[in-house]
Amino acid sequence: MDLQKAILERRSHRRFTDKQVFPIEMKDILEAGILAPSPKNRQPWSFHSCGPIQKRLVADILKDKIDEMQAASTDVGSLPISLRAIEECSDLVLVYNQYSRREQGYNENRWKADTLSIGACIQNMLLVAHSKNIQSLWICDILFAEEELGDLMETDDELVAGVAFGIGMQQNLPRRPRMELHKKMSKTD
Ligand SMILES: Cc1cc2nc3c(=O)[nH]c(=O)nc-3n(C[C@H](O)[C@H](O)[C@H](O)COP(=O)(O)O)c2cc1C
Repeated sequence: MDLQKAILERRSHRRFTDKQVFPIEMKDILEAGILAPSPKNRQPWSFHSCGPIQKRLVADILKDKIDEMQAASTDVGSLPISLRAIEECSDLVLVYNQYSRREQGYNENRWKADTLSIGACIQNMLLVAHSKNIQSLWICDILFAEEELGDLMETDDELVAGVAFGIGMQQNLPRRPRMELHKKMSKTD
C-alpha cells in the first residue's frame, strides 16, 4: 500500500470483532516498529506482547483501577472505552522504555529523545498494521495502572503506551478533524 494512502486512511479503532490477527502478521508489525529511527540507534523500546490470558489480567487490573478511581470521585476519562478496546482486540502490545529507569545519568533530554523514538516505533506499527487491513488503537489510558501492570509483567521499566491490534468492527471510520495546517505554522516574514 502507498504510504501516503496509509497515513490518510489510518484511524484509531475502539471496537474490534472476535477475529484474531495471525501471529506472522503481528511479527511483521513488531518488525516494522523496531525499524524506527532513534538517537545514536539506541532502540529504547521493548515490548510485552500479551496473550489472551495476560490480556484478561490487564483488563482486570484496569477494571479495578476504574473502581478505585470512581470510589475516589476521580474522573476516569476514556479509560472505560480503552478497556473495552483491550478486551475486544486480538493482540495487546505494551511498549516500554528500557533505559529510563536503568541508565546512569539519564536526563530529561535523553528521556525526550527516547520517548520520541518510541512514538515513531508505534506509528510504524500502526501504519504497517493498516496496510495489512489490521486496525489498531494507541492507548495511554493504561498509564493510570502502570505500577500494577509492572507487577503483572514483572518489570520496573517505564511503560510508555499500549497498542491494541485487531479487526475493527467498522472498517471505514470517518477521519477525525484536524486543525488547518496554516494554524499550526508560525508566521515568517
Ligand atoms: C500518545 C497517544 C495516546 C492515546 N491514548 C488513547 C487512549 O488511551 N484511548 C483512546 O481511546 N485513544 C487514545 N489515543 C488515540 C487518539 O484519541 C486518536 O489518535 C485521535 O483522537 C485522532 O484520531 P485518529 O487516530 O483516528 O486520527 C491516543 C493517541 C496517542 C497518539
